[in-house]
Amino acid sequence: MDKFLVQGGARLRGEVRCSTAKNSVLPILAATLLTDEPCRILDVPRLSDVEMMRRILQVLGVESEWQPDGALATRLVDDRPVEAPWDLVRKMRASIAVLGPLVGRRRAARVSFPGGCIFGHRPIDLHMKGLRAIGADIDVRGGFVEAKAPALPGGEVFLGGPFGSSVGATQNVLMAAVLAEGTTIIDNAACEPEVVDLGRFLRAMGAEIGGLGSPRIVVRGVGKLYGAEHRPIPDRIEAGTFIAAAVLTDGEVTIANCRPDHLRAVVDKAQEMGAEVRRTADDALFVRRQRPVAPADLDTHVFPGFPTDLQAQFVALQCLAHGVSVTTEKIYPDRFMHISELARLGANIRKEGPSAIVSGVNNLSGAPVMASDLRASAALVLAGLVAEGETQIHRVYHIDRGYEKIEERLGALGARIQRVADEDEASVEAGAAAGRAA
Ligand code: EPZ
Repeated sequence: MDKFLVQGGARLRGEVRCSTAKNSVLPILAATLLTDEPCRILDVPRLSDVEMMRRILQVLGVESEWQPDGALATRLVDDRPVEAPWDLVRKMRASIAVLGPLVGRRRAARVSFPGGCIFGHRPIDLHMKGLRAIGADIDVRGGFVEAKAPALPGGEVFLGGPFGSSVGATQNVLMAAVLAEGTTIIDNAACEPEVVDLGRFLRAMGAEIGGLGSPRIVVRGVGKLYGAEHRPIPDRIEAGTFIAAAVLTDGEVTIANCRPDHLRAVVDKAQEMGAEVRRTADDALFVRRQRPVAPADLDTHVFPGFPTDLQAQFVALQCLAHGVSVTTEKIYPDRFMHISELARLGANIRKEGPSAIVSGVNNLSGAPVMASDLRASAALVLAGLVAEGETQIHRVYHIDRGYEKIEERLGALGARIQRVADEDEASVEAGAAAGRAA
């Protein structure tokens, strides 16, 4: 296990390039199950979640290989397996993305039911409702979602839940519906860019899909999908993380390979907090702090609202604002694991229900902290960049799930951040293992 040692105080300067979006790449890889022809996904980031999806695909009979240009090439070797086991699904919730393609093409699936996660209950009722609506027979048995669809006529489904639309449910229904016998209408479909991107890949494979990016998606099932090549969209969450880093460190950073049209709510919030954000090319933004960080309230929403996946990073920014900010989580009311770790660095944050009330402080001071999930870890790295002295961030495997070599990319901007082996965690692990063995 590794940890990061971050020395605070460096102002970030230079250019950083965003990777392609993890949350596009994962369902797109799952969608390769829909064809018996090879596919090539370009510019895939080297992330542990991508490796996990490759393992799941392998179990399901799709081999993938890294190519010298950074593409992942996939190839079907066996189209009979339909089971995604617990030991893989429990390590990555996004594994549930294989359910739709298995139902669509193999007409059967047995996918381990994902458990709870660090930011609370995450049901999959909308995934199951959607697949039932298009004709699949779905049951939960022995910890597995079991699906059978000897016929898949298609149908109409409203995918609204208590927290709005669902990215994953929309993607799963879309991936099953493309090979249905009839037409499917998905209402209250998620409009996130990652759903649109998956739809573009499916179209490149021969699917007939209308309404992508709107709350009504119409899919006319086709008999077969073909191999395709696709470059996923840039990662808007990485871009937003770099925007927060630039503002927080009083730096001047150009963020290359980003999609400003996917970042409007984020740029708007950064500007409200005192940033200058300028588009310097179709796919690049220049960010610097224009005035002291101002407090700003923030609510997370479905796209095009402010994304929940940037909430923790912007809470880190609020920690140093000149005043009080209130952040309300409208997608995952319990996604606040970062606040007690930020408090260890001297932040002043109080949680009230689904909100964090953040009173800005003059400075943070470095301390050992524990990463708890991907975006919470990013928030701790950001806070470490401005905390006085050294911040040690344990369990950085969380950050490796979604940010490729973050320490090298921030390092290239001038951050002082080092990855080292975590002896403390190794001895805790060894102790726990000895305890288990005893
Ligand atoms: C995707 O998760 C992302 N993951 C998440 O990013 C992101 O936080 C989330 O969308 C919201 O934008 C991937 O794309 C792999 P949802 P997903 O279904 O699809 C509720 C990260 O850090 N809901 O849109 O699982 C749910 O509980 C990750 O990269 C139901 O009620 O999210 C939540 O409140 C973390 N029933 C809301 O909907 C369902 O059947 C939105 O969840 C499904 C979801």
